[in-house]
Amino acid sequence: MKIELHAVSKAYGRGPGRFWALRDATLAVERRTHLAIVGPSGSGKSTLLHLLGCLDVPTTGEVLLNGVSRASLSDRQVSLIRRAQMGFVFQQYYLNECMTALQNVLLPLELGRVADRRKKAIAALSWVGLEHKLGALPGEMSGGEQQRVAIARSVAHGPELVFADEPTGNLDSESGTKVLEVLRALHDETGTGLVLVTHDDRVAARATQVLRVRDGRLG
Ligand SMILES: Nc1ncnc2c1ncn2[C@@H]1O[C@H](COP(=O)(O)OP(=O)(O)OP(=O)(O)O)[C@@H](O)[C@H]1O
Ligand SMILES: [Mg+2]
Repeated sequence: MKIELHAVSKAYGRGPGRFWALRDATLAVERRTHLAIVGPSGSGKSTLLHLLGCLDVPTTGEVLLNGVSRASLSDRQVSLIRRAQMGFVFQQYYLNECMTALQNVLLPLELGRVADRRKKAIAALSWVGLEHKLGALPGEMSGGEQQRVAIARSVAHGPELVFADEPTGNLDSESGTKVLEVLRALHDETGTGLVLVTHDDRVAARATQVLRVRDGRLG
């Protein structure tokens, strides 16, 4: 899938407290991309990721999904596109603490009525190296393992594009390296597009495209 931003700006708040977190961003995210978004804390990286992933709407400007204006689509249409074609990984894992690894990965597949979901969930967990942890609860896993469950959940339905916002932010460097290897293998082996927000220059160096954000502006 292709996502384009045309002169997109995003403000938070209203009146005198209004703050422009992103200004006049124009860019295209092509199929099979491997894009790193870097910049200081508070520069607007997550804001940009949320707009690209249609988790948020711009204040001004236009977002195009596969050439179609987001504004012309209903919320339901956007969420169907998001559910089918996109995956998300965040710094917090957002796993359900009461559910096993397998149940966590299965949940969105059930909501999306995806066919062969049990097989797909197990395949995704095996792919991130957790076939031996299917029945484990999040509290019984390390941070790196939990993040790999979150990755399995984000890719089990076979998205075209995966967004990851500081996916290694809560991990030590060894677990972080493993998580990044999984994400990179996803791109290299399956051609899944990857948009990665990172503070880590080594991670950015491996991307095919690096986007720098500073004070809400792309540079
Ligand atoms: N919901 C919100 N309401 C008000 N201001 C917000 C909101 N979300 C973000 N901001 C502000 O917008 C700016 C950009 O935030 P954003 O989260 O995009 O930065 P970031 O580059 O991802 O930072 P970090 O590296 O710390 O995650 C920040 O100054 C932040 O305080
Ligand atoms: Mg952020």
